[in-house]
Amino acid sequence: MKDKLDTIMQETFQEFEDKLRKYDSKESQSRVLGRYSSAIIPNFIPWLKLTQDSLNSSEAREEVRKNIEDEIKGDHPGMLRRFVSSAGIVYSPDTSLTNLRDLHFINGDVFYRSPPSSLRKIAALAVMENTSLKFIPVLESYARSLGGKDFEYTQVHGEADIEHAKDLYDALRQEFDYLSKDYPLGFREKAVRIGATHAAEFLLNILNADVNDYLTLD
Ligand SMILES: [Fe+2]
Ligand SMILES: [Fe+2]
Repeated sequence: MKDKLDTIMQETFQEFEDKLRKYDSKESQSRVLGRYSSAIIPNFIPWLKLTQDSLNSSEAREEVRKNIEDEIKGDHPGMLRRFVSSAGIVYSPDTSLTNLRDLHFINGDVFYRSPPSSLRKIAALAVMENTSLKFIPVLESYARSLGGKDFEYTQVHGEADIEHAKDLYDALRQEFDYLSKDYPLGFREKAVRIGATHAAEFLLNILNADVNDYLTLD
């Protein structure tokens, strides 16, 4: 049965899908690949680790631990670097000021927020993994249009990554239920909404190359 948690998450996925733009110009396509790689390569594994450390539910922690193991064993950061570089984009940790500004929000309010707010973190990760089913094919089409040849990253992520998307959603559910003994429903819902919204905004600001102002979902 669908409850408030599912409703919040589905609303966020839908808004993300509605607002995700697609570009035909090579300039915009390169900009998106540059922004995405510079935001994700250095940050994704640290975010997973911060989330793992903050979780109270041992089942949720185990789901995130498995995800970290896959990221490291499969060298996903290297895979992403090869993917964009085959399309002519040189990875640089400070490709764009937008990334710094967007990172500032998601790090401050979600991943590096203290005291540890596990629900914000795991909700943000669940959004990132679940929306990837929609935006990875878009990134792949950009790389193809720019002459990219290395698609291991997009093959491993996107549709093929449905398992991770499901695992992180399950981890969110486990943490949400686990905290029910200490925190009222309204408090937990708010934490999920904040984490989920921040993640969707963060991704949209990177993937929508023509967005200049910090975008907030309403
Ligand atoms: Fe990955
Ligand atoms: Fe994944």
